[in-house]
Amino acid sequence: MPYQGQKSHEFFERAKAVIPYGVNSNFRYHDDYNTPVVADAQDQYVFDFDGRKYIDYRLGFGPIILGHTDPFVNGRVKSAIDHGISFAATQEYEVKVAERIIQMCPGVEMVRLTNTGSECTMHALRLARGYTGRDLVVKFEGSYHGAHDYTLWSTAGGNPEKVGSRQRPTAYKMSWGIPEVMRDLIQVLPFNDVEILGDFLQEKGEQVAAIIVEPILGNGNGIMPRPGFLEFMRQQCDHYGIVLIFDEVKTGFRIAAGGARELFGVMPDISTYAKALGNGYPIAAIGGTREIMMNIGPGKVFQGGTYTGNVVSTAAADAVLEFMQTGQVFPQIEKVGSMIMAGLHEICTRYGVPHVINGVPAMFGISFMVDEPMYEWRDLHKADWDFYETIARYMIEHGVMPEADGLEPYFLCSDHTEENVATTLQVFEDGLKHALGK
Ligand SMILES: Cc1ncc(COP(=O)(O)O)c(C=O)c1O
Repeated sequence: MPYQGQKSHEFFERAKAVIPYGVNSNFRYHDDYNTPVVADAQDQYVFDFDGRKYIDYRLGFGPIILGHTDPFVNGRVKSAIDHGISFAATQEYEVKVAERIIQMCPGVEMVRLTNTGSECTMHALRLARGYTGRDLVVKFEGSYHGAHDYTLWSTAGGNPEKVGSRQRPTAYKMSWGIPEVMRDLIQVLPFNDVEILGDFLQEKGEQVAAIIVEPILGNGNGIMPRPGFLEFMRQQCDHYGIVLIFDEVKTGFRIAAGGARELFGVMPDISTYAKALGNGYPIAAIGGTREIMMNIGPGKVFQGGTYTGNVVSTAAADAVLEFMQTGQVFPQIEKVGSMIMAGLHEICTRYGVPHVINGVPAMFGISFMVDEPMYEWRDLHKADWDFYETIARYMIEHGVMPEADGLEPYFLCSDHTEENVATTLQVFEDGLKHALGK
């Protein structure tokens, strides 16, 4: 059965007539009958055009940390916009947001704001290149750092048959239109392998401007860093004078108030933040040491944009961070997320279904027909994603909405309840039985 009921399907047909594939981001398209459409949202729920209600675990691919339509955030935005929204001049919410980020994220000394995760990783890489005077960037297989040509290589949807050896992978282009010359500027390596990284840096470390890493593979089912991996990168970056960038677009203000820096206790030179920073309002940030950040400026590294630091987004982020600073957000997410992770494990074990659960309560993935721990993108190809999708589609048909593509984790928000957990686990169990043909 397709997810789209009749009215939702008619709406999607209307969208497809004027928008390629009916979506404004390729990631959102599944097929003509199973691409999610949303007519309304409230707290932890979304509603389609047929009036169906879903417990939302997609949460806009991660930003919605406080639930949809959060009254505290929307209230701050509503009161702010009556005083103007875009000035090409510094305004108070920008400064408040920067101050809060510095208070919350250990080691961040200065901040520049952008509108999207792609913009902030693009600027962060330019900053690293400007600071070091080098061009080469290292990224890891399966990580996604945004839509720009710099790093749109070997992301999670890459073709495993065209990526070469693990020792020295071939960068795989993720879009038509990326100039071939960009290949010379990127080296892709397997996540979590200190030996391969160490060997590569021994050969080329002095040419590398930046290592950019998702500290948890948030675009690869939530694969965790092995103990010591982030620490090894920190030590190698110090040794070779490389800028270490944690791309915290997914982990920032989600896995802890201070993101990966707080959770893992490893300090990169720069972190990039977006998603949960705005609870859905478009805002992103580059946070780093004063020494590096002060290379941004007139006649130095260019960073800017007409809408960067606009009142709508910064007022929203000010409220999001203020609420997080009360300490009320993460205990609830931890509790509810842990219950779901434990419940999925218990159900799969009871039915004898091999499975691996990756990630942390705020952001976790599950994969089936594998029982070895996963360390990198290549491990993901051992799992049975058709089985995953059969269950996910069953769940969506029954009012619980994880992402149908299992590479994208489940996301939790502080509005999810224990009652939602019970419903989710029941629907998951029914979906598992359905997938097993029971
Ligand atoms: C880790 C990471 N970096 C960067 C981006 C790009 O962010 P945006 O979609 O806001 O441009 C994403 C988006 O999913 C992401 O997950």
